[in-house]
Amino acid sequence: MDSIAYVNGSFVPLSQAKVSILDRGFLFADGIYEVSAVLEGKLVDNASHLARLERSLGEISLPLPESIARIIEIQKELIARNKLENGLVYIEVTRGADKGRDFAFPKGAQPTLVMFTSVKDIVNAESAKKGIGVITVPDIRWARRDIKSVALLAQVLAKQAAAEAGAGEAWMVEDGKVTEGGSSSAFILTQDDVIVTRQNGSDILPGCTRKAVVKLAEERQLRVEERPFSIDEALKAKEAFITSASSFVQAVVSIDGKAVANGRPGPLTNRLREIYIGFARETGT
Ligand code: PDD
Repeated sequence: MDSIAYVNGSFVPLSQAKVSILDRGFLFADGIYEVSAVLEGKLVDNASHLARLERSLGEISLPLPESIARIIEIQKELIARNKLENGLVYIEVTRGADKGRDFAFPKGAQPTLVMFTSVKDIVNAESAKKGIGVITVPDIRWARRDIKSVALLAQVLAKQAAAEAGAGEAWMVEDGKVTEGGSSSAFILTQDDVIVTRQNGSDILPGCTRKAVVKLAEERQLRVEERPFSIDEALKAKEAFITSASSFVQAVVSIDGKAVANGRPGPLTNRLREIYIGFARETGT
């Protein structure tokens, strides 16, 4: 059965949800997106995702076509109409459709706002129990990765290479250090029990799940260091894991086919995953 999507003011069946071929999201990837998880019918850490949406839009001088309050209403209406228990709500804002294809911002164009949901049982995912393998690829993206832009071709190619290798994610590497995953933040646990993840900056997306996990870990007196790490360091680590709205916390058990520690999800990763799921349940809106 068709789910219900939202397109510029209307709720429509997904198969009938359409935008113009002149839409600048389509022509130029001139748009921003966000993905919030839904757990047991409630949005997870949604304020953090919407704050990042506003920030990304501001960085490309694209006005938000609806208020944040209205966007939350639409998210909740989609969850209700689609009877979504566990999954994701996707939001995309583009600079809209002009009369032709001019690179500079159009004068009178209305931004496009589309939203839809998808079903995903993140808590019971098989990949979370077994952990995932990652492959490494050069990070060929642009210099403003802190903006959650829909220009995702580098990640599409990276994640396709991972899929072809039977891996669950690609870790992108720049100047000998991991930046992040194709659609997730990257972490390791060193032999002396320090959780390491790259510091925020223009070279990575500031992950909402990353931010929450760092805070939850620090509140429990776990040691966290925000700095880059190499693949060599990751292969010598006690544990490795990724975080994202679509996976929460998920163990990385091999890198380019080489096992991390014993090749099974480690105890700290499992603990952080349980802590995060607890946080998601307690604070869902
Ligand atoms: N991706 N880094 C990149 C490049 C990402 O695309 C994502 C999220 C993350 C993790 O961010 P967060 O914890 O806020 O989800 C890090 C989403 C889930 C996606 O593209 O589907």
